[in-house]
Amino acid sequence: MAARKNSTLCTYGILLTLTFCYSAMATHPSSQAIKGAYFPSGVNFAPSSINTKLFTHIYYAFLIPNNVTFKFEIEHTEALLLVNFTSTLHAKKPPVKTLFSVGGGATYGLPLFSHLASDSWSRSNFIHSSIEVARNFGFDGVDLDWEYPQNPQDMVNLAVLLKEWRVEVEKEAAATGRPPLLLSAAVYYSADMWDSSATGAHAALFDPTSNVSTSYGLGSWIRSGVPRSKLIMGLPLYGKSWQLKDPTSHGIGAPAIGVGPSPDGSGEWTFAEVVKFNRDNKSKVVYDSTTVSMYSVAGTTWIDYDDTTSVKVKIGYARELGLGGYFFWAVNEDYNWRISQRASDLWSL
Ligand SMILES: *[C@@H]1O[C@H](CO)[C@@H](O)[C@H](O)[C@H]1NC(C)=O
Ligand SMILES: *[C@@H]1O[C@H](CO)[C@@H](O)[C@H](O)[C@H]1NC(C)=O
Ligand SMILES: *[C@@H]1O[C@H](CO)[C@@H](O)[C@H](O)[C@H]1NC(C)=O
Ligand SMILES: *[C@@H]1O[C@H](CO)[C@@H](O)[C@H](O)[C@H]1NC(C)=O
Repeated sequence: MAARKNSTLCTYGILLTLTFCYSAMATHPSSQAIKGAYFPSGVNFAPSSINTKLFTHIYYAFLIPNNVTFKFEIEHTEALLLVNFTSTLHAKKPPVKTLFSVGGGATYGLPLFSHLASDSWSRSNFIHSSIEVARNFGFDGVDLDWEYPQNPQDMVNLAVLLKEWRVEVEKEAAATGRPPLLLSAAVYYSADMWDSSATGAHAALFDPTSNVSTSYGLGSWIRSGVPRSKLIMGLPLYGKSWQLKDPTSHGIGAPAIGVGPSPDGSGEWTFAEVVKFNRDNKSKVVYDSTTVSMYSVAGTTWIDYDDTTSVKVKIGYARELGLGGYFFWAVNEDYNWRISQRASDLWSL
């Protein structure tokens, strides 16, 4: 089964990185650590319930431009949500920065971004529209979540897009006297597949058998010249499940019949749901130090995820590497802020 959004296998970031094999890159001027999280719209979770002591940047996910004009067309109901999001989060104590994220799982595999990035008229429409939306609705910045550039030409065009975007953002700031909008992107190392025939660590920090890991992905962006302080590590607040072939063979890489169950049928579990699953089924909970991930087994259900144990190691690694911070998918999936709190505390030590 192909990796779906939210399945963001590996995360690192350009303004931020989702590193499940994802990282994000950040262009953040201050020395304050970036503690980011995506806020998925359309879930039953209000911006007002976010504990803003634990975060510095919250990303509204997602907006998608028109695939012909490459401009945003914001409908009335969405406009109300956007205004509510930014005004609520800016009024919180402490306030957090707000960005809207473009793309996401609904655009997975579509030619939308490949087309957008390849043509100067399209890029210009998109860039100007993104700036207009950000200012109209009170955002501090814009995030790009293109899943994913497929080839070297896409990567070249992505670079052109980011460069032109930066120029326009600076121009707008100079013309209006306002602080420039923040620009970020969730970037990846490999748009790898979610292999359902064997269990796996979907957000492995290390993978001895492949280059699809957080550490490799971050390293590849660092080697290509991105300043470490502009990279942040992606962390999942969700797990993925497999159905084991044989419940007694349950390590990482154990044979599986396919994607396992989950409350919504997708095979994905929020961390809060995993906590409940562990309690209700008295599951066996194992920390795998090779990949730096957790898994739970009950019967033939096998779930891979991160908890405070794996996140502690990952945060230590990110700090050691000199990264700018970290971000989560997604802010509503934690259990009583357990992981968000631990990550925030660890970074401040
Ligand atoms: C744009 O999206 C619509 C609706 O999803 C689709 O039918 C159409 O083929 C797309 N057009 C292009 C140029 O990608
Ligand atoms: C945002 O929406 C919520 C729920 O509808 C509402 O209670 C709150 O007053 C709104 N806040 C702002 C600042 O618009
Ligand atoms: C990982 O990447 C390196 C280059 O950085 C390459 O030499 C090596 O073959 C790759 N390994 C795998 C398993 O893909
Ligand atoms: C485990 O617990 C969940 C509820 O958290 C339940 O839906 C599920 O059926 C239980 N049993 C197994 C074997 O997954």
